[in-house]
Amino acid sequence: MTGRPAEPSQDRYEGTVLLSLDVNGERRQVAARVEKTLLEVLREEMGLTGTKHGCELGECGTCTVLVDGKPVLSCLALAVEYQGAAIRTVEGLEGDGRLDPLQEAFARNGAAQCGYCTPGFLLAARALLDKTPNPSREEIRDALSGNLCRCTGYLKIFEAVEDAITLAGGSPASGVRRPAAGGSAL
Ligand code: FES
Ligand code: FES
Repeated sequence: MTGRPAEPSQDRYEGTVLLSLDVNGERRQVAARVEKTLLEVLREEMGLTGTKHGCELGECGTCTVLVDGKPVLSCLALAVEYQGAAIRTVEGLEGDGRLDPLQEAFARNGAAQCGYCTPGFLLAARALLDKTPNPSREEIRDALSGNLCRCTGYLKIFEAVEDAITLAGGSPASGVRRPAAGGSAL
């Protein structure tokens, strides 16, 4: 059977770029399609699945990562535009085998239930405490206002951030007396 020759197949690598990203203090090179979001590249190309998919509309905050110390919604960020920036994910929170005080405080205050929102909250809170070591309850509430949680009702999350300040040797500006592990301040 004769017919028109087949169209040359499209190069499967067309639209793919080699990205060089600084993630959790490590320079990593990955090939990814140019339209991939930072969320997709972190999870699918780098295996950093601590950063979660949520709404992918910029509304839930569960995909929050830090870029040069500031919270960024990775579902709305094109990975190609973040080369040269210092990206930090939840996997980069602990150091030298020690949990970040926020991780410890979230665990002992019951601030993580299903845990899906937790990485985003931890990173948004880390950005706050790095900038404002002793924030008021109002400042904590403001800093976390872009992050949604379906489980905790938020109070335990705010308490955990205040507990992390205490664990790091500070004292929360709210003056809230910290509960013993597992207890509540209210
Ligand atoms: S998944 Fe990014 S804001 Fe919801
Ligand atoms: S702990 Fe379940 S959504 Fe926040």
